Amino acid sequence: NKIPNQLLVIFGASGDLTERKLIPALFNLFQGKHLSPRFTVLGVSRSTGDDASFRERMVLKNKFIPQTIGNFGLRKEFSERVFYHDLGDSYDTDYGPLKDRILALDADQGVAGNVIFYFSTPPSLYGTIAKNLHARGLLEELDSYRRLIVEKPFGYDLESARELNRELQQYCEESQIYRIDHYLGKETVQNLLVTRFANSIFEPLWNRNYIRHVEITNAESEGVGKRGGYYERSGALRDMFQNHLLQIVSLVVMEPPIGPQPEEIRNEKVKALKSLRVMTDPKVLFSHTIRGQYLAGSCNGEQAVGYREEEGVDPQSTTETYAAIKFYVDNWRWSGVPFYVRTAKRMPTKVTEVVIHFKTPHHQIFRGSGMEQYDNKLIIRIQPNEGMAIKFGVKVPGQGFEVARANLDFYYSDLGQVTVMEPYERLLLDAMNGDATLYARADEVEAAWKFVDPILKYWQHGEDVVTYGYSSGMWGPKNADELIEGDFGWRNPGE
Ligand code: BG6
Repeated sequence: NKIPNQLLVIFGASGDLTERKLIPALFNLFQGKHLSPRFTVLGVSRSTGDDASFRERMVLKNKFIPQTIGNFGLRKEFSERVFYHDLGDSYDTDYGPLKDRILALDADQGVAGNVIFYFSTPPSLYGTIAKNLHARGLLEELDSYRRLIVEKPFGYDLESARELNRELQQYCEESQIYRIDHYLGKETVQNLLVTRFANSIFEPLWNRNYIRHVEITNAESEGVGKRGGYYERSGALRDMFQNHLLQIVSLVVMEPPIGPQPEEIRNEKVKALKSLRVMTDPKVLFSHTIRGQYLAGSCNGEQAVGYREEEGVDPQSTTETYAAIKFYVDNWRWSGVPFYVRTAKRMPTKVTEVVIHFKTPHHQIFRGSGMEQYDNKLIIRIQPNEGMAIKFGVKVPGQGFEVARANLDFYYSDLGQVTVMEPYERLLLDAMNGDATLYARADEVEAAWKFVDPILKYWQHGEDVVTYGYSSGMWGPKNADELIEGDFGWRNPGE
């Protein structure tokens, strides 16, 4: 698709995300010639600064863009597409001067009135920014388009997410709003759809008749770093589970869409999220959810401090850095199949994977030869070593019928010279093209919160709730092993 000339206005432009992700992604798109020649960026925030200082920090000296002599010319050229506007003391102000700046850039750069506003501020400001843009007529689409890209977290709980949807929809149409979830920009996450719906070796098996349980692990070896202040109010459930992991769940669970059109896919995802069984009984919540917090320990060859010792964290904090949830999906396809999903910081490694555990054959003629432990698994490696593996049993050569496990392994890197775009590159490009397939719709976000809300409330107020400590560099609290019952445990990649 040809990208139209356009202006990207980033609110919260002096923040971490702009420096780490947005500008480097835009630079890569520029380098790959994906952007139109008139593509223009305007950073907006409350910090004092001007075009020159913003260009220097965000492009010319940004350590997240490779600073090579070879790309200096290109960095310089790109930096000249980047501008800065100082909003003054508050986001709640008259956007008249901002409008003048946008109009002037439009006239100088020829972006034909097409503007995307990227909200990368604390979420409490989203409504205020939309209100002020609206007051100056900046969200009106005449012959051009106006879009909003809204960062996560989208709301703090169900009520605040609903309120935020109401607020934004008061000032613009739902079709103008792009709620970003960078996990949907990952190739391997999108590949879940292709795996399921383009392969007749998986499609017929993808249901309760053949699948015993589904396991999703998202582990990070890093701690909260400098984001302690943010994380204290968030915790693992809000930070990762409500958005990224439930997005993955919705793609695993959903029914086949009629076609690949954005609304067809999003309708099925919403239906999938609505079919997650909401847990409200404290006894069920007690037995189906586990929360933990990392303690000091050795992680990735370094001595890591405990969560409570991190900068910006309350020394008595009970915020969870580990969350494991068992749940069921109440629909025809998944009835009775348990899902186990966990996410955590300070694990032994960084890995995200989906494991589909298939049932063993009903009639086992090789019983006693070890076949039970060789149940078929499909492992979808979201990151790193992106790819897929199938585990199956083969006969050990020789007398008798001893069974051993074999692997069929596919790595994306085997495809050779295919450049995999970074999630932010892909998603920004989609928004510029007006393709919302990989963005979350209002009802989708609310359906996800509906499932998460009772867990949050129970964790906050429940009498028997415990936050288990686990040493940094370990696979989480021991109690989480009891969650995944029977003859199987968590699959800890790399062990
Ligand atoms: C972010 C979370 O959305 O995703 C972070 O706020 C987390 O806490 C990050 O570290 C993980 O993203 P990725 O792409 O590195 O798995």
